[in-house]
Amino acid sequence: MVEIMKLVGEKFRLPGELYSYSTITMGNVNSTYKVTYEMDGRLKSYLFQQVNTHAFKKPVEIMKNIDHVTTFIRQKYPQQITLHFHHTADGANYYITDENSFWRVVNYVESITINSCDDLSVIEATGKAFGNFQTQLSDFDGSVLYETIPGFHNTKQRLDTLFEHIEEDPCGRVKEVTEELEYLSQVRERAADLSVRFARGEIPKRVTHNDTKANNVLFHKETKEPLVVVDLDTIMPGMSMYDFGDAVRFIANAVGEDEPDLSKVYFDTEKFKAFAKGFIRETKNSLTEIELQNLVTASFSITIELASRFLDDYLVGNRYFRCEYPKHNLVRARCQLKLAQDIDKKSPALEQIVRDVIEQV
Ligand SMILES: Nc1ncnc2c1ncn2[C@@H]1O[C@H](COP(=O)(O)OP(=O)(O)O)[C@@H](O)[C@H]1O
Ligand SMILES: [Mg+2]
Repeated sequence: MVEIMKLVGEKFRLPGELYSYSTITMGNVNSTYKVTYEMDGRLKSYLFQQVNTHAFKKPVEIMKNIDHVTTFIRQKYPQQITLHFHHTADGANYYITDENSFWRVVNYVESITINSCDDLSVIEATGKAFGNFQTQLSDFDGSVLYETIPGFHNTKQRLDTLFEHIEEDPCGRVKEVTEELEYLSQVRERAADLSVRFARGEIPKRVTHNDTKANNVLFHKETKEPLVVVDLDTIMPGMSMYDFGDAVRFIANAVGEDEPDLSKVYFDTEKFKAFAKGFIRETKNSLTEIELQNLVTASFSITIELASRFLDDYLVGNRYFRCEYPKHNLVRARCQLKLAQDIDKKSPALEQIVRDVIEQV
């Protein structure tokens, strides 16, 4: 391993000598290392990452997206802590070894990462971090980015695909899910509405992060203030309120994404409020009316979208999501459906929270 670290450091023209390296275990997609160099008796750390090219099929396009976005943020906010991806002599911000492993190097930010989602102050700080990310990029032209996963959050298309597979019923499983399908038929148009309006150009094309979890935020060790958002592998053009929606879908879910006991699944209003506070304070002046007014609808829509993806995968024989048992995708789908129903039921209260937060800030 030390040989590869040395090689990567050389390719990215890091000054000094390799001093030490350690694996970072947080995150579960890429292989991440803190690598320290010594020069003239001083130590400087970098983050080396081997990109998981099984998960990310278009790593070069991802790195071009990252280059656009991080260069923009760094130039706009030269005084703040930002991510700086290093370049090789060829001017690329990645290096592919002879064995085809894909590497990148970024500045190491002294920080802590928090995995747990129960602490309301951490949730609020996470909202602040992702709201700030949206505001930093509010005048960035999202259309220059590659859509590295085409149609990733095209809710209408996701639902259309599900209903096509219901017609085909390739595994004979449709009969097991009639209740779920009835509900999805009822809400199909409503859930797809924002994605349809986005495609028509009625909603701004922003940069979305698409993995808005607390462990993709670096926090200050003492103050616990958010410092910078990391994990930019899924940045794409999209709707900023879907970043909000996906975050609360995950954070405000009282249980895991695959809880089989549906009586335990509910949408936690307090957690929603905490995230909304952090996010809206940052974005109030950068998002448009239409975006601010549809935060709750987006949360419902993206939850229906994920439910339909899990259900679709179950109907076609578990081809996409890794399953630990045969009905895992069905359990996941039911869990998201229950959550969507709860968001829908609570939406008057949630809308009120959003209005209150907008007024207060
Ligand atoms: N620039 C950085 N400085 C310090 N730590 C970082 C930096 N970038 C990422 N990390 C840490 O490494 C972890 C994994 O990185 P991440 O890019 O999120 O990879 P994954 O895609 O595997 O989740 C993060 O959760 C964070 O703890
Ligand atoms: Mg991560």
